Amino acid sequence: MERPRHPNPVLEAIYSRRSVRDYAPEQIPRELVYEIIRAGTWAPSGLNNQPWRFVIVRDAEKRESLARLTRYGEIIRRAPLVIAVFVDKDAMYHEVKDHQAMGACIQNMLLAAHALGLGAVWLGEILKNAELVRETLSLPENLDLMAVVALGYPKRRDQRSSRKPIEEVIVKEYW
Ligand SMILES: Cc1cc2nc3c(=O)[nH]c(=O)nc-3n(C[C@H](O)[C@H](O)[C@H](O)COP(=O)(O)O)c2cc1C
Repeated sequence: MERPRHPNPVLEAIYSRRSVRDYAPEQIPRELVYEIIRAGTWAPSGLNNQPWRFVIVRDAEKRESLARLTRYGEIIRRAPLVIAVFVDKDAMYHEVKDHQAMGACIQNMLLAAHALGLGAVWLGEILKNAELVRETLSLPENLDLMAVVALGYPKRRDQRSSRKPIEEVIVKEYW
């Protein structure tokens, strides 16, 4: 199904956000990077425990080391900056709920990037090498990798995606 359009700016942002995997060479201003992380931190979390932790990686050598840990390495090489997103095991109180909060955090980041005119993609395939990512970034064992978010100004804005119609995913209705 084609993406819906909506006059409400929040809904329109949700519908128009696409994964962006190709970027222009421009660097992202530091303030925008912090804004994206701030938006991540305004996600809901159980007991408001805010278990998210972030590592900003602009350095080309570090990005190259990360790129070698996923088959989507080309995206990490092309992106001017990536943010590795971790959950702090020491801050967790409930396996499922903390991971749900992390998903909400990452989605907030994607939407914030989109709202700021940037493009982003959630990279999960790299989780197969989560331990190596942690070591590459010299991080302690309490940090568990949840995703790498690649960021940059989109080279193109013609990305398309599709979704199942809601009739297919609504299992029952008790009105
Ligand atoms: C948990 C998760 C893991 C993902 N991992 C990758 C990945 O490793 N590489 C990639 O190119 N895209 C990855 N994506 C992006 C999805 O492919 C993308 O969100 C999906 O195709 C829908 O497209 P859209 O984001 O443009 O709507 C991931 C998304 C999620 C939520």
